[in-house]
Amino acid sequence: MRDSYLEDFYSFLRFPSISTDDDYSKNLNECADWLVKKLNAVGLEARLVPTAGHPVVWAHNKHQKGRRTVLIYGHYDVQPADPLELWESPPFEPVLKDGYVYARGATDNKGQILSHILGVQETIEKETDLPVNLHFVIEGEEEIGSANLGKFLHQNKDALACDVVVVSDTGMIAPRTPTMSYGLRGVAALEIKIIAAKMDLHSGIFGGAVANPATALAQLLATLHDREGRVAISGFYDEVAPLQDWEREAWSKLPVNPDEEILKETGAPALFGEKGFSTLERIWARPTAEINGIGGGYQGQGTKTVIPREAMAKLTFRLVPNQNANEIIALAKKHFEKNLPPGVRLEMSSGHNGLWYLTDPKSQFGQAAQRALRKAFDREVALIREGGSIPIVSDFRAILGAESLLCGLALPGCRVHSPNENFPLENLEGGIRLNKAILQEIAA
Ligand code: BES
Ligand code: MN
Repeated sequence: MRDSYLEDFYSFLRFPSISTDDDYSKNLNECADWLVKKLNAVGLEARLVPTAGHPVVWAHNKHQKGRRTVLIYGHYDVQPADPLELWESPPFEPVLKDGYVYARGATDNKGQILSHILGVQETIEKETDLPVNLHFVIEGEEEIGSANLGKFLHQNKDALACDVVVVSDTGMIAPRTPTMSYGLRGVAALEIKIIAAKMDLHSGIFGGAVANPATALAQLLATLHDREGRVAISGFYDEVAPLQDWEREAWSKLPVNPDEEILKETGAPALFGEKGFSTLERIWARPTAEINGIGGGYQGQGTKTVIPREAMAKLTFRLVPNQNANEIIALAKKHFEKNLPPGVRLEMSSGHNGLWYLTDPKSQFGQAAQRALRKAFDREVALIREGGSIPIVSDFRAILGAESLLCGLALPGCRVHSPNENFPLENLEGGIRLNKAILQEIAA
């Protein structure tokens, strides 16, 4: 691999492009500027498109009539790096160890989208042009729900017209095992706050007289699931489409041992989840309710005898076909209102949501993607769904009328969203091969 590829990768990773935190908006702009420069240097026409949030980077080659048009999507924003103390090297100072580059965003999504850029660079160097009309759309708000990208798609609907979308922002089931995902879960966010008194209170003077919001929150959150891991919100599963027979069978034959691997990767003492489904079925085809954060009261050293004024929790629901995000949020709100313990007030605000996605892996372009994956990695392709979400993918279908080919390069050990995120250079190279192969296969 050329030295310049590693330099590009490091430069890209050094921007702390954390989209959720306003303190970093300058870094997101700088990262987007860097991408525009890089894409122009590769020989594309690239520009930065401002939005109400972080800018979109949009690049294309010279389009010619009679060729297929491909849109390659990725994101340059990253999740926060904390807890910082658990990183073995600083998250925005990339280092190479045993063939893996460690940094926040290395896999999700900078390494993956960079491999497509470098693939295009190699093809243009060698052939002076690509076999297809190409758009790159690289956004800065994927990790916060892509709130402004839909508008960008609407506003540029005609210019962005394409036959198919290519996305590398999902996983490979194992190293060197090409994987195509034909489904994603959706996500819907809800924040709840429980309030009692107008201020924190002395727990000796008032304890016993007024409700404790932290206790009420614990009681309320405990109603979310039954003891066997099923979500206890009434109606939650009503619209869930059953897994198809071919999927259950294909997933049980995948060359992996997910239970063992997940125990090892996470360090959890046991697996846990909804009864009656295998681990992969629970992750890929069943919805969940997760508490992502919980807080209230004194968190400092020692003790403080206080009844906190309020307590809060941040929740997200992972959704599957054919659940509707707004309906699920409405059901959840109703559930919390109904189960609210006495003596407290409840405030709820829904956050971003993104639709699930399910496509046909046997479609014409689905088959082209599988041929390209086989060519790039020289092995049979695993067909899977994913538990994660890429909110804009359903908009590509709704707004542009284009299906997405999800050809991810993340390994199970890449630690996306966790400390010590890493990406193997082997997959940067694999992604370059994939980019060339998939553009050829789509063109053919
Ligand atoms: N690359 C992930 C999505 C992903 C992760 C797909 C694992 C398949 C397997 C993406 O960057 C991501 O993390 N998305 C967020 C979206 C959310 C914030 C709206 C997610 O899934 O949490
Ligand atoms: Mn992510």
